[in-house]
Amino acid sequence: MSVSPMHNLAAAIHQHSLVRFLEHYVREYPDALLKDLVVDHLGPNREMDVNGRRVTNFGSDSFLGLDQDPRVQAAVAHGVMRWGAHNGASRVFASVRSNEAAEVKLASWLGTEAALIYPSVTLANVGALPGLVSKRDVLILDEHAHNSMQEGAKIAQANGVRVAMFSHADPRDLDRVLAEAGEYRVALVAIDGVYSMTGTLPPLAELNDVCLKRNAVLYVDDAHGTAVLGRKGRGTVLDALGNYDNVLVVGSLSKGFSCFGAFIGCTHEFKWLLKLRSSTFIFGGPVPPPYLDAVCTVCDILNSTEYEEIRARLERNVKHLATGANELGLVVLGGETPILSILTGDEDVTFQAGRFLFEKGYYVQSVTFPAVPYHAGVLRIQVNANHQPAAVAGLLAALGDMQRRFVLPTTRGIHLRPAA
Ligand SMILES: Cc1ncc(COP(=O)(O)O)c(C=O)c1O
Repeated sequence: MSVSPMHNLAAAIHQHSLVRFLEHYVREYPDALLKDLVVDHLGPNREMDVNGRRVTNFGSDSFLGLDQDPRVQAAVAHGVMRWGAHNGASRVFASVRSNEAAEVKLASWLGTEAALIYPSVTLANVGALPGLVSKRDVLILDEHAHNSMQEGAKIAQANGVRVAMFSHADPRDLDRVLAEAGEYRVALVAIDGVYSMTGTLPPLAELNDVCLKRNAVLYVDDAHGTAVLGRKGRGTVLDALGNYDNVLVVGSLSKGFSCFGAFIGCTHEFKWLLKLRSSTFIFGGPVPPPYLDAVCTVCDILNSTEYEEIRARLERNVKHLATGANELGLVVLGGETPILSILTGDEDVTFQAGRFLFEKGYYVQSVTFPAVPYHAGVLRIQVNANHQPAAVAGLLAALGDMQRRFVLPTTRGIHLRPAA
């Protein structure tokens, strides 16, 4: 009996080491994995009906809770009436007026000359990074840089650009790597503004000083800082550096913004150059117009005094959780941002501890390889401005029960180094 090419293709993919790793856990812990969840209902205070159970959702990037804000919802609805569901054209040919309006508002809020909107941060990184450098340049990444920057770097490398890594968040190692890179026309250094699995921040000012000394531009993917950190939620860069003179900053419109898409904040000149050189901008479609109307509404909220009140609620919840988790003696990573990770170590403990919390009514993400290294699993907790204090207290009590039930790491011991 002949075996079809389709069968051979599937069999080959099953052999991939990552697929074998994940399929092992699907077989071992079919009930504990909590992947591919289907949500039936979302409530205003992060309640979530899933698998026939009501839990409080501590796994959402919508940190300010603006997905539930009637003004943001009305903007999307109004946008649908104005533009229809999707205009369906590459922006190379035409953009709706709301796209222009959103870019002007974003730039003015961020404090850059201009902004260019992409449909996601992944598409911004995969399109812009290879477009910004050519054969005579070098591209340097933090070893923990988000997967989408690593993918962008692979395309740049295939185009003949020299690519290298420096040790995580280490300005001295960046200096060494740039010094050893030999002659280059210009270097681009790509880092995260917030490391998304641990909620930790890089030393931006020190890294930028090295860049300035070594003829390098800093490229900061601030996906998790956008709308959440810095004055007016402008992210990590402006507060740390005071200007964007040597930085191209990428922000998310899908996380703290609760809309859809991403942007690169830059000068008018770079906006023009990015339009000419980003393959994903040229060959891909735009953000659906209704979401661009919502982006304008969120910019107004971030620019208003109300923003401080939302941020205060978020910070109250982050402090409550971080203090409580530290008092329990758990190994807590992060705490400066609304992402806190509890080190759980081995994969089986990570999955089962996540399931344990779920049964107690709290959903957090059980994160294992490849997002973190083998045996360095974490429970990733995303705090929200809409969480009620009772929900945070309830999660802390459940974490205490979890600690009594499972053997958890008591020191950091493990160097958290995500796979590329
Ligand atoms: C640093 C970073 N960059 C990019 C992304 C992907 O963003 P998007 O979903 O907009 O592609 C994430 C997602 O969490 C992220 O943490």
